[in-house]
Amino acid sequence: MDKYRVAIVGATGLVGSEFIKVLEQRNFPIGNIQLFASDRSAGKKLLFNHAEYEVKETNTDSFHDVDIAFFSAGTDTSKYFAPIAAQSGAVVIDNSAAFRMDENVPLVVPEVNAEDIKKHKGIIANPNCSTIQMVTALYPLHKTNPIKRIIVTTFQSVSGTGSAAVEELSAQSVQVLNGQVTAPSVYPHQIAFNTLPHIDAFLDNAYTKEEWKMLEETRKIMHAEDMLVSATCVRVPVFTSHSEAVNIEFTNPISAEEARVILSQAPGVNVLDNPYASLYPTPWMAAGTDATYVGRIRQDVSCSNGLVMWIVSDNIRKGAALNAVQIAEEMIKQNWIIPGG
Ligand code: A2P
Repeated sequence: MDKYRVAIVGATGLVGSEFIKVLEQRNFPIGNIQLFASDRSAGKKLLFNHAEYEVKETNTDSFHDVDIAFFSAGTDTSKYFAPIAAQSGAVVIDNSAAFRMDENVPLVVPEVNAEDIKKHKGIIANPNCSTIQMVTALYPLHKTNPIKRIIVTTFQSVSGTGSAAVEELSAQSVQVLNGQVTAPSVYPHQIAFNTLPHIDAFLDNAYTKEEWKMLEETRKIMHAEDMLVSATCVRVPVFTSHSEAVNIEFTNPISAEEARVILSQAPGVNVLDNPYASLYPTPWMAAGTDATYVGRIRQDVSCSNGLVMWIVSDNIRKGAALNAVQIAEEMIKQNWIIPGG
Protein backbone atom coordinates (compact mmCIF):
# COMPACT_ATOMS: atom_id res chain seq x y z
CA MET A 1 0.00 0.00 0.00
CA ASP A 2 1.24 3.53 -0.82
CA LYS A 3 2.23 5.69 2.11
CA TYR A 4 1.99 9.46 2.18
CA ARG A 5 4.09 12.29 3.58
CA VAL A 6 1.74 14.23 5.83
CA ALA A 7 2.04 17.63 7.52
CA ILE A 8 -0.26 19.15 10.12
CA VAL A 9 -0.15 22.94 10.41
CA GLY A 10 -1.62 24.02 13.75
CA ALA A 11 -0.70 20.68 15.32
CA THR A 12 -0.72 22.12 18.85
CA GLY A 13 -4.30 23.43 18.58
CA LEU A 14 -7.60 21.73 19.34
CA VAL A 15 -8.28 20.67 15.76
CA GLY A 16 -4.58 19.88 15.23
CA SER A 17 -4.62 17.43 18.16
CA GLU A 18 -7.76 15.87 16.73
CA PHE A 19 -6.05 15.48 13.34
CA ILE A 20 -3.38 13.44 15.12
CA LYS A 21 -6.01 11.30 16.87
CA VAL A 22 -8.15 10.74 13.75
CA LEU A 23 -5.11 9.83 11.59
CA GLU A 24 -4.00 7.32 14.25
CA GLN A 25 -7.47 5.85 14.76
CA ARG A 26 -8.17 5.45 11.04
CA ASN A 27 -4.74 3.97 10.40
CA PHE A 28 -4.12 6.56 7.70
CA PRO A 29 -1.31 5.38 5.36
CA ILE A 30 1.44 7.67 6.65
CA GLY A 31 5.05 7.23 5.59
CA ASN A 32 6.23 10.35 7.36
CA ILE A 33 4.54 13.02 9.48
CA GLN A 34 5.64 16.56 10.28
CA LEU A 35 3.97 18.75 12.89
CA PHE A 36 3.96 22.52 12.46
CA ALA A 37 2.70 25.43 14.56
CA SER A 38 3.86 28.96 15.34
CA ASP A 39 7.29 29.91 16.69
CA ARG A 40 5.73 29.78 20.20
CA SER A 41 5.54 25.99 19.99
CA ALA A 42 8.77 25.23 18.16
CA GLY A 43 10.62 22.44 20.00
CA LYS A 44 7.54 21.19 21.82
CA LYS A 45 7.11 17.40 21.63
CA LEU A 46 3.89 15.68 20.56
CA LEU A 47 3.08 11.98 20.27
CA PHE A 48 1.95 10.29 17.08
CA ASN A 49 1.42 6.53 17.25
CA HIS A 50 3.44 6.42 20.50
CA ALA A 51 6.50 8.09 18.89
CA GLU A 52 7.64 11.59 19.84
CA TYR A 53 7.75 14.30 17.18
CA GLU A 54 9.18 17.78 17.61
CA VAL A 55 6.87 20.62 16.58
CA LYS A 56 8.48 22.94 14.03
CA GLU A 57 7.78 26.57 13.26
CA THR A 58 5.87 26.87 9.96
CA ASN A 59 7.93 28.60 7.28
CA THR A 60 8.07 28.91 3.51
CA ASP A 61 10.36 25.85 3.22
CA SER A 62 8.18 23.58 5.33
CA PHE A 63 6.32 21.85 2.50
CA HIS A 64 8.92 20.54 0.04
CA ASP A 65 8.59 16.92 1.17
CA VAL A 66 4.87 16.85 1.83
CA ASP A 67 2.10 15.07 -0.12
CA ILE A 68 -0.85 16.12 2.07
CA ALA A 69 -0.94 19.16 4.36
CA PHE A 70 -3.80 19.50 6.84
CA PHE A 71 -4.16 23.14 7.92
CA SER A 72 -5.99 24.38 11.03
CA ALA A 73 -4.08 27.39 12.24
CA GLY A 74 -6.44 30.27 11.52
CA THR A 75 -7.40 32.15 8.39
CA ASP A 76 -4.30 34.39 8.19
CA THR A 77 -1.91 31.45 8.46
CA SER A 78 -3.82 29.58 5.74
CA LYS A 79 -3.95 32.62 3.46
CA TYR A 80 -0.19 32.95 3.66
CA PHE A 81 1.08 29.36 3.83
CA ALA A 82 -1.55 27.27 1.97
CA PRO A 83 -0.65 28.66 -1.50
CA ILE A 84 3.04 28.15 -0.68
CA ALA A 85 2.36 24.54 0.35
CA ALA A 86 0.35 23.92 -2.83
CA GLN A 87 3.13 25.48 -4.94
CA SER A 88 5.59 23.12 -3.24
CA GLY A 89 3.57 20.16 -4.48
CA ALA A 90 1.41 19.33 -1.46
CA VAL A 91 -2.35 18.95 -1.58
CA VAL A 92 -3.69 21.29 1.09
CA ILE A 93 -6.86 20.45 3.01
CA ASP A 94 -7.66 23.67 4.78
CA ASN A 95 -9.96 24.00 7.77
CA SER A 96 -10.05 27.80 7.77
CA ALA A 97 -12.50 30.15 6.06
CA ALA A 98 -9.73 31.55 3.83
CA PHE A 99 -10.62 29.82 0.54
CA ARG A 100 -14.05 28.30 1.07
CA MET A 101 -15.91 30.56 -1.34
CA ASP A 102 -13.05 30.75 -3.88
CA GLU A 103 -14.41 29.32 -7.13
CA ASN A 104 -11.12 27.50 -7.76
CA VAL A 105 -11.30 25.74 -4.42
CA PRO A 106 -13.66 22.80 -3.90
CA LEU A 107 -15.58 22.91 -0.62
CA VAL A 108 -16.19 19.33 0.30
CA VAL A 109 -18.19 17.08 2.58
CA PRO A 110 -17.39 13.60 1.21
CA GLU A 111 -20.89 12.22 1.89
CA VAL A 112 -22.32 15.04 -0.25
CA ASN A 113 -19.97 16.22 -3.01
CA ALA A 114 -16.85 14.02 -3.11
CA GLU A 115 -16.79 14.43 -6.90
CA ASP A 116 -15.94 18.13 -6.52
CA ILE A 117 -12.51 17.18 -5.15
CA LYS A 118 -11.13 16.43 -8.59
CA LYS A 119 -11.53 20.07 -9.67
CA HIS A 120 -8.93 21.15 -7.10
CA LYS A 121 -5.87 23.20 -7.97
CA GLY A 122 -3.86 22.30 -4.89
CA ILE A 123 -6.21 23.49 -2.15
CA ILE A 124 -9.43 21.91 -0.92
CA ALA A 125 -11.48 23.66 1.76
CA ASN A 126 -13.10 21.99 4.72
CA PRO A 127 -16.45 23.72 5.35
CA ASN A 128 -17.53 25.50 8.49
CA CYS A 129 -18.36 23.04 11.29
CA SER A 130 -22.06 24.01 11.54
CA THR A 131 -22.47 23.66 7.79
CA ILE A 132 -20.83 20.22 7.63
CA GLN A 133 -23.23 18.56 10.05
CA MET A 134 -26.27 20.29 8.54
CA VAL A 135 -25.53 19.26 4.95
CA THR A 136 -24.55 15.73 6.00
CA ALA A 137 -28.04 15.31 7.44
CA LEU A 138 -30.01 17.30 4.86
CA TYR A 139 -28.40 16.23 1.57
CA PRO A 140 -29.91 12.70 1.56
CA LEU A 141 -33.36 14.30 1.92
CA HIS A 142 -32.61 16.99 -0.67
CA LYS A 143 -31.63 14.29 -3.21
CA THR A 144 -35.10 12.73 -3.05
CA ASN A 145 -37.13 15.89 -2.44
CA PRO A 146 -35.38 19.18 -3.25
CA ILE A 147 -35.15 21.59 -0.34
CA LYS A 148 -36.50 25.10 -0.98
CA ARG A 149 -35.80 26.78 2.33
CA ILE A 150 -33.88 26.15 5.57
CA ILE A 151 -34.23 28.07 8.81
CA VAL A 152 -31.62 27.01 11.34
CA THR A 153 -30.69 28.03 14.87
CA THR A 154 -27.36 26.68 16.11
CA PHE A 155 -26.14 25.98 19.63
CA GLN A 156 -22.37 25.97 19.18
CA SER A 157 -19.78 24.78 21.66
CA VAL A 158 -16.78 26.85 22.67
CA SER A 159 -14.24 24.40 21.21
CA GLY A 160 -15.18 25.86 17.81
CA THR A 161 -13.35 29.02 18.87
CA GLY A 162 -10.15 27.18 19.89
CA SER A 163 -8.29 26.23 23.03
CA ALA A 164 -8.36 29.73 24.57
CA ALA A 165 -12.18 29.64 24.59
CA VAL A 166 -12.24 26.20 26.24
CA GLU A 167 -10.00 27.57 28.97
CA GLU A 168 -12.20 30.65 29.32
CA LEU A 169 -15.38 28.59 29.83
CA SER A 170 -13.62 26.37 32.41
CA ALA A 171 -12.16 29.29 34.34
CA GLN A 172 -15.38 31.34 34.28
CA SER A 173 -17.49 28.36 35.40
CA VAL A 174 -15.30 27.95 38.49
CA GLN A 175 -15.35 31.70 39.14
CA VAL A 176 -19.15 31.92 38.92
CA LEU A 177 -19.63 28.91 41.21
CA ASN A 178 -17.26 30.55 43.71
CA GLY A 179 -19.19 33.82 43.58
CA GLN A 180 -16.35 35.66 41.85
CA VAL A 181 -16.59 38.24 39.10
CA THR A 182 -15.58 37.09 35.60
CA ALA A 183 -13.56 39.07 33.07
CA PRO A 184 -14.43 38.04 29.49
CA SER A 185 -11.51 37.93 27.13
CA VAL A 186 -12.15 35.61 24.16
CA TYR A 187 -15.87 36.50 23.91
CA PRO A 188 -17.44 39.96 24.34
CA HIS A 189 -19.49 38.69 27.31
CA GLN A 190 -19.24 35.99 29.95
CA ILE A 191 -19.88 32.59 28.31
CA ALA A 192 -20.26 30.52 31.50
CA PHE A 193 -23.97 30.04 32.34
CA ASN A 194 -24.86 32.29 29.41
CA THR A 195 -25.67 32.17 25.67
CA LEU A 196 -24.32 34.63 23.09
CA PRO A 197 -26.19 35.22 19.79
CA HIS A 198 -22.94 36.34 18.24
CA ILE A 199 -20.43 34.12 16.40
CA ASP A 200 -17.80 35.86 14.29
CA ALA A 201 -18.17 39.50 13.19
CA PHE A 202 -21.40 41.27 12.29
CA LEU A 203 -21.97 42.14 8.62
CA ASP A 204 -23.73 45.24 7.28
CA ASN A 205 -26.93 43.22 6.83
CA ALA A 206 -26.98 42.44 10.61
CA TYR A 207 -26.26 38.74 10.11
CA THR A 208 -22.96 37.45 11.47
CA LYS A 209 -20.23 36.05 9.23
CA GLU A 210 -20.88 32.62 10.75
CA GLU A 211 -24.54 32.84 9.76
CA TRP A 212 -23.63 33.96 6.25
CA LYS A 213 -21.14 31.08 5.93
CA MET A 214 -24.02 28.67 6.56
CA LEU A 215 -25.97 30.21 3.70
CA GLU A 216 -23.15 30.45 1.15
CA GLU A 217 -21.41 27.19 1.99
CA THR A 218 -24.63 25.14 2.02
CA ARG A 219 -25.46 26.39 -1.47
CA LYS A 220 -21.95 25.71 -2.77
CA ILE A 221 -21.66 22.19 -1.31
CA MET A 222 -25.13 21.10 -2.39
CA HIS A 223 -24.89 22.86 -5.78
CA ALA A 224 -28.15 24.62 -4.92
CA GLU A 225 -27.72 28.28 -5.84
CA ASP A 226 -31.35 29.17 -5.20
CA MET A 227 -31.80 27.43 -1.87
CA LEU A 228 -33.03 29.89 0.76
CA VAL A 229 -31.15 29.70 4.05
CA SER A 230 -31.45 31.85 7.15
CA ALA A 231 -29.31 31.06 10.21
CA THR A 232 -29.06 32.35 13.76
CA CYS A 233 -25.82 31.14 15.33
CA VAL A 234 -25.58 31.04 19.11
CA ARG A 235 -22.56 30.25 21.29
CA VAL A 236 -23.52 28.13 24.30
CA PRO A 237 -21.56 27.06 27.39
CA VAL A 238 -20.84 23.54 26.07
CA PHE A 239 -17.29 22.29 25.49
CA THR A 240 -17.78 19.97 22.52
CA SER A 241 -20.40 19.35 19.77
CA HIS A 242 -22.73 21.72 18.01
CA SER A 243 -26.51 21.28 18.04
CA GLU A 244 -28.93 22.71 15.49
CA ALA A 245 -32.70 23.17 15.39
CA VAL A 246 -33.61 23.13 11.70
CA ASN A 247 -36.88 23.89 9.88
CA ILE A 248 -36.83 22.62 6.30
CA GLU A 249 -39.30 23.36 3.52
CA PHE A 250 -39.27 20.76 0.72
CA THR A 251 -40.63 20.97 -2.81
CA ASN A 252 -43.05 18.08 -2.24
CA PRO A 253 -44.76 16.65 0.82
CA ILE A 254 -42.62 14.41 3.06
CA SER A 255 -43.56 12.68 6.31
CA ALA A 256 -41.36 12.43 9.38
CA GLU A 257 -41.36 8.64 8.94
CA GLU A 258 -40.14 8.92 5.33
CA ALA A 259 -37.34 11.21 6.47
CA ARG A 260 -36.41 8.77 9.27
CA VAL A 261 -36.15 5.91 6.77
CA ILE A 262 -33.98 7.94 4.35
CA LEU A 263 -31.73 9.22 7.11
CA SER A 264 -31.31 5.82 8.75
CA GLN A 265 -29.66 4.63 5.50
CA ALA A 266 -27.62 7.79 4.90
CA PRO A 267 -23.81 7.68 5.14
CA GLY A 268 -22.42 9.26 8.30
CA VAL A 269 -25.89 9.80 9.80
CA ASN A 270 -27.28 8.15 12.92
CA VAL A 271 -30.99 8.60 13.71
CA LEU A 272 -31.79 8.76 17.44
CA ASP A 273 -35.45 9.58 17.51
CA ASN A 274 -37.80 8.32 20.18
CA PRO A 275 -38.64 11.44 22.18
CA TYR A 276 -41.24 9.58 24.28
CA ALA A 277 -38.37 7.51 25.67
CA SER A 278 -36.23 10.68 25.99
CA LEU A 279 -34.15 9.46 23.04
CA TYR A 280 -32.65 12.31 21.03
CA PRO A 281 -29.08 13.43 20.37
CA THR A 282 -27.24 15.64 22.85
CA PRO A 283 -23.83 17.32 22.55
CA TRP A 284 -22.46 15.35 25.48
CA MET A 285 -23.22 11.97 23.90
CA ALA A 286 -21.98 13.07 20.47
CA ALA A 287 -18.60 14.30 21.75
CA GLY A 288 -15.71 12.10 20.66
CA THR A 289 -17.78 10.20 18.08
CA ASP A 290 -17.90 10.41 14.28
CA ALA A 291 -21.60 10.45 13.36
CA THR A 292 -23.98 13.26 12.62
CA TYR A 293 -26.96 12.50 14.85
CA VAL A 294 -30.55 13.42 13.98
CA GLY A 295 -33.60 13.36 16.22
CA ARG A 296 -36.87 15.19 17.03
CA ILE A 297 -37.93 14.69 13.39
CA ARG A 298 -41.48 15.97 13.06
CA GLN A 299 -43.87 17.73 10.73
CA ASP A 300 -43.50 21.52 10.72
CA VAL A 301 -47.06 22.57 11.50
CA SER A 302 -46.34 26.11 10.30
CA CYS A 303 -45.45 25.05 6.75
CA SER A 304 -46.87 22.60 4.20
CA ASN A 305 -44.06 20.30 2.95
CA GLY A 306 -42.10 21.22 6.08
CA LEU A 307 -40.13 19.18 8.62
CA VAL A 308 -38.34 20.15 11.82
CA MET A 309 -35.34 18.28 13.20
CA TRP A 310 -32.48 18.43 15.69
CA ILE A 311 -28.96 17.74 14.39
CA VAL A 312 -25.93 17.19 16.65
CA SER A 313 -22.32 16.37 15.86
CA ASP A 314 -18.83 16.71 17.34
CA ASN A 315 -17.60 19.96 15.80
CA ILE A 316 -13.93 19.06 16.22
CA ARG A 317 -14.33 15.63 14.59
CA LYS A 318 -16.94 15.62 11.77
CA GLY A 319 -17.01 19.41 11.90
CA ALA A 320 -13.25 19.69 11.34
CA ALA A 321 -10.54 17.00 11.60
CA LEU A 322 -12.55 13.94 10.59
CA ASN A 323 -14.09 15.59 7.54
CA ALA A 324 -10.64 16.76 6.39
CA VAL A 325 -9.15 13.28 6.80
CA GLN A 326 -12.14 11.79 4.95
CA ILE A 327 -11.38 14.17 2.06
CA ALA A 328 -7.80 12.88 1.98
CA GLU A 329 -9.02 9.27 2.13
CA GLU A 330 -11.36 9.92 -0.77
CA MET A 331 -8.49 11.39 -2.80
CA ILE A 332 -6.35 8.34 -2.09
CA LYS A 333 -9.23 6.01 -2.99
CA GLN A 334 -9.65 7.79 -6.33
CA ASN A 335 -5.86 7.85 -6.98
CA TRP A 336 -5.82 11.64 -6.99
CA ILE A 337 -2.65 11.92 -4.86
CA ILE A 338 0.68 10.50 -5.98
CA PRO A 339 2.94 9.77 -3.00
CA GLY A 340 6.30 11.48 -3.38
CA GLY A 341 5.05 13.08 -6.57
P1 A2P B 1 0.69 27.72 18.60
O1 A2P B 1 0.24 26.68 19.59
O2 A2P B 1 2.16 27.69 18.37
O3 A2P B 1 0.15 29.09 18.88
P2 A2P B 1 -6.51 26.72 18.52
O4 A2P B 1 -7.51 26.80 17.38
O5 A2P B 1 -6.77 25.56 19.43
O6 A2P B 1 -6.38 28.02 19.24
O7 A2P B 1 -5.08 26.43 17.82
C1 A2P B 1 -4.54 27.25 16.85
C2 A2P B 1 -3.34 26.56 16.19
O8 A2P B 1 -2.84 27.43 15.18
C3 A2P B 1 -2.20 26.29 17.14
O9 A2P B 1 -1.54 25.09 16.79
C4 A2P B 1 -1.29 27.48 16.87
O10 A2P B 1 0.07 27.26 17.17
C5 A2P B 1 -1.44 27.59 15.37
N1 A2P B 1 -0.98 28.88 14.87
C6 A2P B 1 -1.39 30.11 15.25
N2 A2P B 1 -0.72 31.08 14.58
C7 A2P B 1 0.13 30.42 13.74
C8 A2P B 1 1.10 30.85 12.77
N3 A2P B 1 1.32 32.14 12.53
N4 A2P B 1 1.81 29.89 12.12
C9 A2P B 1 1.58 28.59 12.34
N5 A2P B 1 0.69 28.13 13.25
C10 A2P B 1 -0.03 29.03 13.93
